[in-house]
Amino acid sequence: MNHEDILTKRRTFGIISHPDAGKTTLTEKFLLFGGAIQTAGAVKSSKIKKGATSDFMEIEKQRGISVASSVMGFDYKDYKVNILDTPGHKDFAEDTYRTLTAVDSVILVIDCVKGVEEQTRKLMEVCRMRHTPVIVFINKLDREGRDPFDLLDEIEKELNIHTRPLSWPIGMGSDFKGVYNLFEKKLQLYTPGKNKITEDIHLINDLNSEELDKKIGERAAKKLRDDAELIEGVYEPFNNELYLEGYLAPVFFGSAINNFGVQELLDTFVQIAPEPQSRQTDVREVLPSEDKFSGFIFKIHANLDPNHRDRIAFCRVVSGRFERNKFYYHTRLDKKFRFSSPTSFMANEKSIVDEAFPGDVVGLYDTGNFKIGDTLTEGELINFKGIPSFSPEIFKELVNKDPMKTKQLEKGIMQLTDEGVAQLFSRQPGNIKIVGTVGELQFDVVQFRLLHEYGASCIFRPLNYEKACWFTSTDKGALDRFKLIKGHNIVFDKEGRSVFLAESSWSVQMAQSNYPEINFYFTSEFKNADESIPIGKY
Ligand code: G4P
Repeated sequence: MNHEDILTKRRTFGIISHPDAGKTTLTEKFLLFGGAIQTAGAVKSSKIKKGATSDFMEIEKQRGISVASSVMGFDYKDYKVNILDTPGHKDFAEDTYRTLTAVDSVILVIDCVKGVEEQTRKLMEVCRMRHTPVIVFINKLDREGRDPFDLLDEIEKELNIHTRPLSWPIGMGSDFKGVYNLFEKKLQLYTPGKNKITEDIHLINDLNSEELDKKIGERAAKKLRDDAELIEGVYEPFNNELYLEGYLAPVFFGSAINNFGVQELLDTFVQIAPEPQSRQTDVREVLPSEDKFSGFIFKIHANLDPNHRDRIAFCRVVSGRFERNKFYYHTRLDKKFRFSSPTSFMANEKSIVDEAFPGDVVGLYDTGNFKIGDTLTEGELINFKGIPSFSPEIFKELVNKDPMKTKQLEKGIMQLTDEGVAQLFSRQPGNIKIVGTVGELQFDVVQFRLLHEYGASCIFRPLNYEKACWFTSTDKGALDRFKLIKGHNIVFDKEGRSVFLAESSWSVQMAQSNYPEINFYFTSEFKNADESIPIGKY
């Protein structure tokens, strides 16, 4: 297969959802269809079980299990599909945001009973920021859910994206009869059964045909005709371009656990979803069709065994062909590295690979050379962009409890924050270390890992901040004035950039209106204005 064919037949995407909407179940059904697993239940849930919030060791254990399922590759028809797993737990939201930098599209799962939930909103915010194409799967139709039109309205309003149903449910809950594929004019009838792949599919070219009444009954047939008419009247025909630009989300209905509506979702997905896309660097755009290899690290997973300090860095291949045992250039360190056992992931199995192509993810064993966002190339000095840090929401001062272990603490906190467990800021004078996270859980994780992996003990002292904003200005005078007046709230990130820590959203707004010459950002990557989130729009 030539390089171009390899690209057109590759799909790399993430399934995202609020916890419990059915992400794990849908992933598993995809793998079943792809033949990557044979039985349901083979995919270990990476979700953090309810009630485990105080037991972070359990969570880390579960995360450990999820290493294997971080990336799941499988073949479907003649496509190579890569699913990148995203943790549903909100305390690991930043992990999810970063994983979204490595996908070309997403499938968003929504529970038809609950509709749009908190995590759904946050995840979509990130997708919209990156113009990631989104397909929506409305799940659990076997339950008594909300009216499908209301759900679509809610998605449009709350997630700020246009929708276009491509399938439509016939009844719901105990009355659920099946879905009608508006795109292909096919009727799929529902037969409950967890592991069955439904084959009861009827081609109904004309919704007015009597066959429809025979199949689903007169009442349901009339309702479907009325709904279909309304859909045609209200929604524009599906426009693939708008989907690829991230403005329009095609919507499917089904029930993942019953394997219903899943195959048509997958079939449409491989047809319409984008192939591996180009990525922007600080110098130029890199196209997947280029001959030379390039890639970036979007996730680092630590080994939980303290005797083995190695980690796995997940590299998304952007261009060219990645080869085992070839030297690649680590642009930040200005050093060459060779990888003797790069790993690929098939369902929940790891294996060593000799080569990988754009869209693929390879796991690279690392002894501490990588940090999130690092770039590998065949020699060109470029750095991939679009892997920003987002504003943490909880801030605490890191206090060393054992002066004899200061060095270990320094090293440990640098490495853990390179891995992306938390963000590190420093305040001068005194080099005070401030750790920022999106969830309380990370503080437990950091404290535990510092002690067990680096022998350093620490405590955290709560700080009264809620937002971190990176800031710049072309007006040096205004910048100096702001820094002077807000002295106590100004810290530096690991790259030495100035960051304003705010007590509340209100104090951010105040700063914005009082210092109009200063530009504030909620992500660390703001050189390219359209990639950052201007305050007020978040
Ligand atoms: P998540 O990864 O998004 O967190 O969700 P997950 O797939 O684990 O699904 C959450 C719960 O919803 C699971 O039940 C799962 O069985 C159920 N579920 C998934 N799809 C459907 C569906 O189409 N219909 C119905 N009725 N339920 C569905 P659980 O009780 O939490 O776990 P389990 O004991 O079934 O494993």
